Amino acid sequence: MARLFLFSFVLLLCAASTTAGSSSRPGNKKLKEKLSHIQFYFHDVVSGRNATAVPVTKPAEEHFPAFGLIMMMDDLLTAGPDPKSQPVGRAQGFYASVSQEDLCFLMAMNLVFTSGKYNGSVLTVLGRNPPLHAVRELPIVGGSGLFRFARGYALARTHWLNQTNGDAIVEYNLHVLHY
Ligand SMILES: *[C@@H]1O[C@H](CO)[C@@H](O)[C@H](O)[C@H]1NC(C)=O
Ligand SMILES: *[C@@H]1O[C@H](CO)[C@@H](O)[C@H](O)[C@H]1NC(C)=O
Ligand SMILES: *[C@@H]1O[C@H](CO)[C@@H](O)[C@H](O)[C@H]1NC(C)=O
Repeated sequence: MARLFLFSFVLLLCAASTTAGSSSRPGNKKLKEKLSHIQFYFHDVVSGRNATAVPVTKPAEEHFPAFGLIMMMDDLLTAGPDPKSQPVGRAQGFYASVSQEDLCFLMAMNLVFTSGKYNGSVLTVLGRNPPLHAVRELPIVGGSGLFRFARGYALARTHWLNQTNGDAIVEYNLHVLHY
């Protein structure tokens, strides 16, 4: 009986040290999930010599909604709506015109944070963006750095649009669960 007891005790100790080992992995200290709200403005410059979003395909149809067009972007993200306000990161990826009837993009992008506590961390967004709608919801499907295991959603609202050249400033509000 005493032997059995000792054996169970040793087993328990082993279990405890395994748990301690895994919980001491970096970035994983307490495994407590939190919800963060992140807001920024996205500058989609499609015109001029300093464009940050450029077409990489010729659309199947030249006219609205330019089905087949793919724009590769490295768009600036700032804290405020003014492009000269505090830079917070870049949106790197592409948006592609995927509807033959109305303007609708498939967006695939990495939000690469370059300042503040998220500097060096990345969130990955993949979703449907009909840019003429007042509010678009896009899933956040993952992340790295402080955003390991991230999931959530982004709400995009056009803040400003130059209807002549297509340049736009879009307000993004992210709600993201991460550890
Ligand atoms: C492009 O950027 C450069 C450097 O910031 C600036 O001097 C120039 O005026 C810009 N050109 C256009 C067309 O916006
Ligand atoms: C962000 O991190 C990089 C690399 O560690 C560093 O060089 C840079 O100065 C940081 N930027 C800010 C704004 O803190
Ligand atoms: C909108 O784009 C046109 C064409 O590039 C330009 O002439 C005009 O100044 C822009 N409007 C604003 C408010 O930037």
